[in-house]
Amino acid sequence: MQYSKKVIEHFRNPHNQGRIKNADAVGQVGNLACGDVMKIYLKISENKKGESIIKDIKFETLGCAAAIAVSSALTDRVKGMTLARALTIEKDDIVKDLGGLPPIKVHCSRLGVEALHQAINQYFKK
Ligand code: FES
Repeated sequence: MQYSKKVIEHFRNPHNQGRIKNADAVGQVGNLACGDVMKIYLKISENKKGESIIKDIKFETLGCAAAIAVSSALTDRVKGMTLARALTIEKDDIVKDLGGLPPIKVHCSRLGVEALHQAINQYFKK
């Protein structure tokens, strides 16, 4: 299986790549399978109902094309979402958004989601 069009688009033109100065939360995870690293930065605010939402999100990675594409699609999906809802996002949701990943690359999709969940959990602990 090759990369889907969407994976290639996100890899060539990643959305929300970079860092947020004064982020409200940061999550960082490593992939034991390949040694790659992913960092997610969050800026949090409240919506009209008083729920905490992801106002802004950025990622930095030392990862492969699949990890970059997944993080780009993930950040698009969760921007503006409540933290509670974002915690329910799983890697398979993002793989679906991207039209699938080659089986050998599916492990790369956990990095972004795990870093996001870690950042949110860190925020709740504050
Ligand atoms: Fe390391 Fe894909 S090979 S994240």
